[in-house]
Amino acid sequence: MEEKREGFGSRIGFILAAAGSAVGLGNIWRFPYLAAKYGGGIFLLTYLILVVTFGFSLMVTEISLGRKTGKSVIGAYKDADGRFGFLGPVASLVPFIITPYYCVIGGWVIKYLVTFASGQGTLATDDGYFGGFISELPGPSAYFLIFAFLTAAVVIFGVEKGIENVSKVLMPILVILSVGIAVYTMTLPGSGAGVKYYLLPNLSGFTLSKFLKMIVAAMGQLFYSMSLAMGIMVTYGSYMRKQDSIEKSTRQISFFDTLIAIIAGLIIVPSVFIFSGGDEAALNAGPGLMFVTLPKVFDSMKGGPIVGCAFFVLVAFAALTSSVSLLETMVSIVTEKFGLKRFASTLVCLLIVFILGMLSVMGYSNLSSFTVFGYQILDFFDFISNNIMMPIVALLTCILIGHIVKPAYIEEETTLNGEKFRSKGLYEVMTKFVCPVFMIIILLTPFFVDL
Ligand code: PHE
Repeated sequence: MEEKREGFGSRIGFILAAAGSAVGLGNIWRFPYLAAKYGGGIFLLTYLILVVTFGFSLMVTEISLGRKTGKSVIGAYKDADGRFGFLGPVASLVPFIITPYYCVIGGWVIKYLVTFASGQGTLATDDGYFGGFISELPGPSAYFLIFAFLTAAVVIFGVEKGIENVSKVLMPILVILSVGIAVYTMTLPGSGAGVKYYLLPNLSGFTLSKFLKMIVAAMGQLFYSMSLAMGIMVTYGSYMRKQDSIEKSTRQISFFDTLIAIIAGLIIVPSVFIFSGGDEAALNAGPGLMFVTLPKVFDSMKGGPIVGCAFFVLVAFAALTSSVSLLETMVSIVTEKFGLKRFASTLVCLLIVFILGMLSVMGYSNLSSFTVFGYQILDFFDFISNNIMMPIVALLTCILIGHIVKPAYIEEETTLNGEKFRSKGLYEVMTKFVCPVFMIIILLTPFFVDL
């Protein structure tokens, strides 16, 4: 009764889909503000080093694990070593936690897109606009449902017809939009100071503790941005063709992901800089940056309504391809575990997304006084997945590959098409020693420094 497993039809399709997963809200909103907060060029440099060492190794591991076993994350870990079978369910819990709230934020993006596209961008410059919108039902729940349905509409068509085809259209548009907006904002008068602030290393105020915080922040960003430690790359790897190069694909996906993050910074940092008259505090607005500060920035800019609209299209596309990868990972698990057809398991997963997502939505309205360990519901989901579960999954994955089944298990898969694994030495050192140590540091840091 085993059906033939679906898969990507081309290498470029796989790369664009995986890059689509990686490029998301994290690149556009989170990366620029972290870079601005942690010394500009210093953060960029640290991040780049982490991408080519740590991110590279973990991504090679996950993609290979998926392709080798041809299974969802649950089956993949069990196949590698029965004793580590428990890691599959732990890793698969992460997309079940993240997808619902990611769709809630996706809904906010659609709301802003509609506002700007209908020429009402000025409304969003009001300080109470964002808070008013997320706290008044049914608005946020309706936009959440729209975004979740859009995601499901792609996943229901399957890997090649749905995900691959949609990524092939959306990703090139995303690149054009981001380059276009960045070039435009960099030509605005006064943007030079912002570009300098963003790209040049700025050591002032750097203490040892700030340096450590920066490294931990860069590591956390790397995980999230490259969609690691949550079964996504295992799932997409399981759909990858055997003749394609894992090493080359990993480099291209990481390059794509990092490039879009850097370009997003070139849009956001200079424009916020001009708007705030060089006030660095404006860049530290955290989560409010995208929904509260940026609309004001666009409003003050020549051609702002068009730039604002283009910007939210960009964010919506980036968020959609990411949520597609999350939902696909859930669907692959449900399909394999319960032997359901794609259509049925997509509906089951959508139902789970509705239920948990509505909790996050209500966390800002009816349930706003309800907190879990002091966190609002959405923030709580974000915290346990990013700060606890993902580092644990990454740590145990490195131990499994580095010390139990040994790196040869992965290396075999990377050389399947007859090509050499060029970064074998780096890969082994990272997987066996450096990554596990870093993961332990990430897990322990919050206990010692106030992040
Ligand atoms: N990598 C995505 C980003 O940078 C976020 C994401 C997280 C996507 C989890 C899928 C799963 O925004």
